[in-house]
Amino acid sequence: MSKSHLDLLENNKKWAANIKASNPEFFNQLLKGQSPEYLWIGCADSRVPATQITDVAAGSIFVHRNIANMVVHTDMNMLSVLFYAVKVLKVKHIIVCGHYGCGGVISAMKQEKFGFIDNWLRHIKDVYRIHQSELDKIEDENERANRYVELNVAEQVLNLSKVSFLNEEWENGKFPHIHGWVYSLKDGELKDLNVTTNNAEGLESIFQFSKKAGDVF
Ligand code: CO
Repeated sequence: MSKSHLDLLENNKKWAANIKASNPEFFNQLLKGQSPEYLWIGCADSRVPATQITDVAAGSIFVHRNIANMVVHTDMNMLSVLFYAVKVLKVKHIIVCGHYGCGGVISAMKQEKFGFIDNWLRHIKDVYRIHQSELDKIEDENERANRYVELNVAEQVLNLSKVSFLNEEWENGKFPHIHGWVYSLKDGELKDLNVTTNNAEGLESIFQFSKKAGDVF
């Protein structure tokens, strides 16, 4: 076994002991169940851990992470996490969090082949296609990548607002709210992109539903 593996287990012993010493009821409380107010859809990047960068304890955030914080409508993993968070945990807020310097986004900006992962990057490339006229105008590659990261987060917020059972929730209430944030690896700060939504009204008409049930299916 590698040294780092042993370190993780050692670290865990110290972490658990510290919490028991400072807050003896902590684990008893979490044993009763979880009631997080937030669902986090973030990048799998090791430098962007949800609870650490928001400085909250275990039990605060329900988390789904994948390469470049994508909301892909055929992704059963993402949909299942989202469904459980919305329908069972009744989270009030869903945060799509991207980060500047995202390897997934930077790779999607290139025309090089990366192998199997190209199938996933294709979804990120769709965002470039939608915003090509704006992105192509940005000459500096870093600036273009940073804007691409922001636009990708905004598109994933829109993708979430197209999910059928989120639309159902909004027919009956105002929650959950969906937010788009970007994390900076340079200074550890989160930026709110101000793309928060709790309805499908801003979407193109093809994505909006009438009350009538369809009869084709
Ligand atoms: Co990333």
